[in-house]
Amino acid sequence: MIYVTRRAHFSAAHRLYNPGFSDARNEAVFDKCNNYYGHGHNYQMEVTVKGIPDPETGYVIDLKFLARLIEEEILVKVDHKHLNFDVDFLSGVIPTAENIAIAFWRILEPKISSGILHSLKLYESENNFVEYFGEPVELARHDALAGEARR
Ligand code: NI
Repeated sequence: MIYVTRRAHFSAAHRLYNPGFSDARNEAVFDKCNNYYGHGHNYQMEVTVKGIPDPETGYVIDLKFLARLIEEEILVKVDHKHLNFDVDFLSGVIPTAENIAIAFWRILEPKISSGILHSLKLYESENNFVEYFGEPVELARHDALAGEARR
């Protein structure tokens, strides 16, 4: 297997809180990320597709295709947005790096037509990142959070 990776960046705001928690518990659990009006991150993501190079092209996946897919399906929807309010596919989701990575995976995975999506790495900062390999996990949604979405 050969592993092919496309890296992409976006900047976005979020606020971490659970509407079922008290203010004190939200502050204790989410600390600075609980700031009422949110705060920003410069996110970096790495999308890795694995496969065997096509004998005619030498490609596992055409990186131009993968770059365009990430741009059209993800980046235009999250870059310079507030993840709590602006992003339909994150509606009701606590926008941690974990949950964002799962949501991104679910969008990209069915659209990758050559090779197999292997991993999605999402850096929230230089030192903090998550990596997801597509294991079945629940993406918890909270109605009270979804109610806040602007659209
Ligand atoms: Ni944060």
